[in-house]
This record gives sequence, structure tokens and C-alpha cells, in this order.
Amino acid sequence: MLNVAIVAGGDSGEYGISMKSGKQVELHMDRSLFRPFLIEIRGKNWNYRIGRKNFPIDKNDFSLSIGKRKIRFDLVFIAIHGTPGENGRLQGYLDMLGIPYTSCDVTTSAMTFNKGFCKEVVASCGISTAKSMHLFKWGAHTEAGILRELSLPVFVKPNNGGSSVGMSKVNQKKELNTALIKAFHEDGEILVEEFVKGRELTCGVIKTNGKIITFPVTEIIPKNEYFDFESKYKKGMAAEVVPADVTLQQSAQCQDISRLLYAKLNCKGVVRFDYIFTGADFYFLEVNTVPGLTAASIVPKMARAHGWSFTELITRLIGEEKSRQ
Ligand SMILES: Nc1ncnc2c1ncn2[C@@H]1O[C@H](COP(=O)(O)OP(=O)(O)O)[C@@H](O)[C@H]1O
Ligand SMILES: [Mg+2]
Repeated sequence: MLNVAIVAGGDSGEYGISMKSGKQVELHMDRSLFRPFLIEIRGKNWNYRIGRKNFPIDKNDFSLSIGKRKIRFDLVFIAIHGTPGENGRLQGYLDMLGIPYTSCDVTTSAMTFNKGFCKEVVASCGISTAKSMHLFKWGAHTEAGILRELSLPVFVKPNNGGSSVGMSKVNQKKELNTALIKAFHEDGEILVEEFVKGRELTCGVIKTNGKIITFPVTEIIPKNEYFDFESKYKKGMAAEVVPADVTLQQSAQCQDISRLLYAKLNCKGVVRFDYIFTGADFYFLEVNTVPGLTAASIVPKMARAHGWSFTELITRLIGEEKSRQ
């Protein structure tokens, strides 16, 4: 029986979603194989909770003491979206302690969390990406310079963000300044990216039994102008069609690109690649290395369409990580 710490929470706007993901993983974990402990990480407070009582994690060795019992973990299941679970920070800490975990390693997590750098690597693999500028808060950029380089409409987004927080679609020149201020409020670096017109497709990929497997391609159809915070988390504000209504050839192409990127970016665990499909080409938007695992999230739906229950998905993720040790 393995002791598995499910870590959830984190320090971004995705805290609430992450807690839901963590609870869902705890609920569905196979108790005949694993002993789950849901641990909330919020700033310096790392706690396991029984009823209303908190039991703090000893950060020296990531252990838990309950009365006289000291619990050590065989593995950490990372369910934190955003910092510090998706950007390599927690991964670095766990590496130093020699505790395995179910997501990409430090380098891949940190690099893919940085949208601008990640796009450079993805483009170098021959995959299309929208034209963009990666800007820093103290850089010498000007609105005129941006508009000389890029054509409207553009998306302005925090470079290390998620859940569409701090993001705007700029249709007119006069909206650009407000959008820049809003994105810089969230992050010291931002991405200004040309709008790509098309359908939004996403593909989940997982390595299991040493093999890279792609889930059915899924289409996201938001009610709003794009897949913003409200359409992501408010019921009925977006439809997710699994499998997407595309031709077999288009779906195979999307899966092939996703499999290639999973390998090239040296991913592990389950990740989701997001694209805009123009009808001819797949434009890579981003990769989510700790995708949502709530009851309403896309990856569990994809897994189900592939024929796996949520419990099986979790068992495979843990099994793959343990087999690497
Ligand atoms: N260049 C773009 N062209 C078209 N739609 C975009 C573009 N960039 C972002 N979007 C829309 O905004 C959403 C959020 O953008 P994304 O880069 O995935 O940020 P986040 O990490 O916050 O999810 C996407 O799911 C998509 O609907
Ligand atoms: Mg996204």
C-alpha cells in the first residue's frame, strides 16, 4: 500500500479549482492500492486536515505527524494548477528530497509555464504558433512599436498565467494600453499575440506503460468571445465536445502533433495541448502540464471517452511514475 500525498491549492487564481481537483482525485483513488492524504499548500501553510484540525507538513522531509505516527509519502500527486505546482517550484523541492511526483520535471514545468519561451521551442519543432511579442515590465516597448509589429486583434496575456486571468482581447488600438496595464498587474512579463481565427481544439496526452497515448481530440465552444474565466468555470458557459466533430484525418493530425510535442518537451504525467484550428492548420496556444481534474474538467471526460474511468486514470498516472523509480 503506497502513501500518496495529493497536493492542492497553491498561490494563484486557480486555488479554488485546484482544491476541487485534489478532492476529486482523493475521492476516486483506488483504496485497495493507495492510501491518499489530501494536503493543502497555500503560501507557507502546508496542512493535512482531519475535521477542523490542521496537521502541518514538516517541510524538512515532507512528512506528516499525526499524534505519535509519522507518515512518509511514497509519491506526490500534484493537483496544483499554477504556481507552485505547475511551474517547477514544487518539483524542484521534491527532487531535492528524492520524492517522486506525477507531473513533468522541473525543467519542462518551468519552461512550458512560460508561454513565450514555450512557443519558441514548439515553433522550432515545426508547429505553427501565432505571431507574438514577449514583453518585460521594464522593457522599452511602446504601443506604436507593438502595433507596427502585430496586427489587431491581439490577445494580451500574462506570460506565466492561467485560467485567462489578467487577459484581454484587444480589437481596437485605443484598448491596448488598458490591456497592457491589466496583464502587467498579474505578471512582470506578458505576451501580446495575434488573434487566430478558428475552432478551439484540445488534446490530452499521457504516458502509460512506457507508451505515449493520445486521448480523443476535444472541441471547446465558449459562449463568450473566447474561453475566458467565466466560460471556463461557470456552468453552461462553454460546451466541450468529445470527440470533436472533425474528420478522422484532422483528429489524427492533432493527435500526431500532440504526441510529438509531448516527446519533444519531455513531458510526463497527463498534459493537455490547446490549439486554434483554422481548418488548414493547428496553431499551438499553450500546454497545461497540470490540467484540471474536477468533476467538470476536460481531461477526465477525455479519459472516459478513451474508455478509462477516473480511478483508472489515477492508477495509471501513479503506476507510471512508480515504474520509473
Ligand atoms: N492567439 C489567440 N487566438 C485566438 N484565441 C486565443 C489566442 N490566445 C488565447 N486565446 C483564447 O483565450 C483562451 C485563454 O488563453 P491561454 O493562452 O490558453 O491562457 P490561459 O493559460 O489563461 O488558459 C484560449 O483558450 C482561447 O480561447
Ligand atoms: Mg488555456
